Amino acid sequence: MIKVAPSILAADLARLGAEVEEIRAAGADYVHFDVMDGAFVPNISMGIPVLKSLRKATDMFLDAHLMVARPLRYVEQFCAAGADLVNVHVEADSEKKLLDALERIRRQGKKTGVTLKPGTPAEAILPYLDLVDLVLVMTVEPGFGGQRFMEDMLPKIRTIRGWIEERGLCCELEVDGGVDAGTAPLCIAAGANVLVAGSAVFGKEDRAAAIRLIRGEEI
Ligand code: DX5
Ligand code: ZN
Repeated sequence: MIKVAPSILAADLARLGAEVEEIRAAGADYVHFDVMDGAFVPNISMGIPVLKSLRKATDMFLDAHLMVARPLRYVEQFCAAGADLVNVHVEADSEKKLLDALERIRRQGKKTGVTLKPGTPAEAILPYLDLVDLVLVMTVEPGFGGQRFMEDMLPKIRTIRGWIEERGLCCELEVDGGVDAGTAPLCIAAGANVLVAGSAVFGKEDRAAAIRLIRGEEI
């Protein structure tokens, strides 16, 4: 099943609760929560207090994408704040520290994810692949919404889907960046099953139609 995860980075954050209620009613599967620390990426977005408030406002699945250096320092706080899945970048720390971070997330009863930046080869996922619930392939340089989809990431998505199949894992494969009704079919064909979309959902008047188009359904 193809899932759509609208990124609230593109929402009207002054009315976050209402925006999330709207995408829930419009058929979204997950809420994608982008955390940027101004160090791992050249931008700052939102963090733990916002997640905590959002948790009180919705029972939707909250997918926290930590674009944060040395995420081991914060993963437990994101779990406690109410994330359902905490996703760390493979570039953000050493393998040992990241394995520790994933273990701490699991111990809190939450799902785990690892993310690859566009310049990072698919192989970088291998130390974590058997352990995580989700792999995220970035299809833009992380840091900003509204960028152009990088088609040259499609082979990476295909490679990782192949490994998931070969090993019989039930790990989800998510894509993030520049996903819209035009690029979503390419991601799905390459093997992605969770599609993050910021501007392509929140930038549209009719969010239900936008979500259905991204999922590849007739409207
Ligand atoms: C980028 C973020 C994305 C972003 C996607 O660093 O991780 O989740 O919000 O936005 P769009 O869909 O507009 O490219
Ligand atoms: Zn993201």
